[in-house]
Amino acid sequence: MASLGSAPPALPRHVAVIMDGNGRWAALRGLPRVEGHRMGVRAVRTVVECARELGIPFLTLYAFSLENWGRPEPEVRTLMSLLQKFLRSELPEMLRQGIRLRVIGDTSTLPLPVRHVLSRTMSATAGNSGMTLTLGLSYAGRNEIVRAAQALAADAAAGTIRPGAVTEEVFASRLDTAGMPDPDLVIRTSGELRVSNFLLWQSAYAEYVFTDVLWPDFGKTEFLLALEEFSRRHRRYGLTGEQAGSPPAK
Ligand code: FPP
Repeated sequence: MASLGSAPPALPRHVAVIMDGNGRWAALRGLPRVEGHRMGVRAVRTVVECARELGIPFLTLYAFSLENWGRPEPEVRTLMSLLQKFLRSELPEMLRQGIRLRVIGDTSTLPLPVRHVLSRTMSATAGNSGMTLTLGLSYAGRNEIVRAAQALAADAAAGTIRPGAVTEEVFASRLDTAGMPDPDLVIRTSGELRVSNFLLWQSAYAEYVFTDVLWPDFGKTEFLLALEEFSRRHRRYGLTGEQAGSPPAK
């Protein structure tokens, strides 16, 4: 890949992406929706490579939501097959680039061959420390929160935790993202201005960047533009601009 040269100054530690617009990309070209997903895989490769090259430690991609199971069966099958192929073909590259793979979501609902390749890839890359690539698969934020609440309620019922001991930190440690920093930047492509059940707990203080670009057209330039926009934001975490060190309003 060409050098990124003009890397923006304030890089986020964790970038999360809602990859949207594959279907519309295909429809605009008179192609079946699955062609949009195929081209979407190419964009995934580009963004992973770009994030790794820039030194972003955490990249999370929303690849398949819990709600996506409701799509036509052939589309779901194609998405599962693309995912399987991606994991198989990218393993050597992940090892070369020091990328660790993680998954968030209710993976028990994934087809067995997908679960196998996922678990093989996660084991093979577990020792990598260059970047953590997390895929949201069969993922939904509310479902994740409910699963964490159920696990804590079971512990409370068993007497291994006091209800009063459930702090934000304890709760976060029971989410699928346990141990990961919260996303600093969430990017959504395709012009939709929604959060769509993605990282609901974790994005409490995330900056959002929305772009009209459809996911298969999202490349290095668009990624760098989103990072540049992020670097111009002043994060205040509920404090005043003065307290947070933001420049005075003009
Ligand atoms: C949203 O576009 C995209 C998805 C539901 C799937 C995302 C999947 C990929 C990019 C490819 C597989 C992923 C990996 C990690 C190998 P949409 O279908 O909702 O588009 P539309 O809103 O235009 O219909």
